[in-house]
Amino acid sequence: MTLGLLREATRSRLRRGIVAASALVVSAGMVGVAVPQATAAAAPAPAPAVQQVENPYAGATGYVNPAYAANVEDSAAQAGGDVGTRMRQLASIPTAVWLDRIAAVTGGSGVNMTLRDHLDAAVAQGADVATFVVYDLPNRDCAALASNGELLVSENGMERYRTEYIDPIAEAMSDPAYANLRKVAIVEPDSLPNLVTNLNEPRCQEANSSGAYVEGIRYALNQLRPIENTYLYIDIAHSGWLGWDSNFQPAVNLIGDTIKGADAGVNSVDGFISNTANYTPTEEPYLPDSNLSVGGQPVRSSTFYEWNPYFDELDYAQAMRTAFVNAGFPSSIGMLVDTGRNGWGGADRPSGVSGSGDLNTYVNESRTDRRPHRGGWCNQSGAGIGTRPTASPASGVDAYVWVKPPGESDGISEPNPPPDPNDPNKTHDPMCDPDAQNRYNTAYPTNALDNAPHAGRWFHDQLVMLVQNSFPAL
Ligand code: BGC
Repeated sequence: MTLGLLREATRSRLRRGIVAASALVVSAGMVGVAVPQATAAAAPAPAPAVQQVENPYAGATGYVNPAYAANVEDSAAQAGGDVGTRMRQLASIPTAVWLDRIAAVTGGSGVNMTLRDHLDAAVAQGADVATFVVYDLPNRDCAALASNGELLVSENGMERYRTEYIDPIAEAMSDPAYANLRKVAIVEPDSLPNLVTNLNEPRCQEANSSGAYVEGIRYALNQLRPIENTYLYIDIAHSGWLGWDSNFQPAVNLIGDTIKGADAGVNSVDGFISNTANYTPTEEPYLPDSNLSVGGQPVRSSTFYEWNPYFDELDYAQAMRTAFVNAGFPSSIGMLVDTGRNGWGGADRPSGVSGSGDLNTYVNESRTDRRPHRGGWCNQSGAGIGTRPTASPASGVDAYVWVKPPGESDGISEPNPPPDPNDPNKTHDPMCDPDAQNRYNTAYPTNALDNAPHAGRWFHDQLVMLVQNSFPAL
């Protein structure tokens, strides 16, 4: 048994909570502790310095990114008044750190804090858990234009991903200085979901045929999994993307098979995350049953839901969890939901179930998701801050987390932006243009806000709107 496997076996025992008291390791520095006889007689136990927990967010104080907090403070001062006061609360809420380029890990121009800087800051803060987004696959964001990355399959991107990106992440996270910090990695949002539904796009085809996404993710899992006190969650997009029957099981198969091909198989991950950077509500309180019949038709057949049986992220995440367990994953897996921007509060939020007997009127008057179309993903007008990060909020759910930091843009609205040397790969996606049509259903507008900067850049006006529409209200 290799050390890695030995450690893995111990970790999964710990995770399942079946480790015997006598097997708990007593650190070398401890004196005067009576070691139970059974342990003294047995072969030396492997030495996990830190216990891997089942849910890294349970009972944990999250890391507050000081760079995010500073942006919030600036915006709050700029907004002033009541909105400014409400906004300022966000400066103490944990958000994920996006490792969206090699320089975000190891340093470089335009990057103020490297991964190690964040890890140091988290330890100095006394945080228990810090969340990082691993987001730099070759041909990244292959079906859109707003968040393309620096690596390309055709330019040795796979090798660079391994050696210049994942290896340094693993090196930093495995530093014993951070052993007591729970390090959560959100692995490559949007990548495998794009292989489920967007293989008509040439860059997705290349990501698929070259194996870049599947092999890249396996490499990330293989390097990060053995690191003590590190937790891995894989992206499952959101209900408005993979919820349809025709997408759901193919997604479980592709994502499941990708993970099963990693060194620790189904034990390579702690769970899955839905709604990363999206706006789909956690719950549709007035539409709890997608098969409810209104006007003789199930509500899922309405124009807005397009026969998708999943209206909200809680139903979707729980159903996905069940599907993964059925596919052989351990029942210890837990789900995360990004609730940073899915609040949909404010004056336009419905306060009860519609009384209409007309199917579409009933759905439109009852739904809290006020996008014209569920495919809208870029800087959505009308959205609000959602539920604050919460551990163990529902059955099978490890946490509601804020992955996309509210106030950071999804993509530039200007159709012909001048080249930006600091963000050479980010370009304009028409889904971010308020005057363009939604490409997933051209009958609808994009619902994107105007005057938005490049993806990831600070977007003050959006944050003001998100605070005004927060639900629960800030
Ligand atoms: C961008 C990243 C950014 C992240 C968080 C993504 O859409 O492409 O550069 O770090 O959002 O704002």
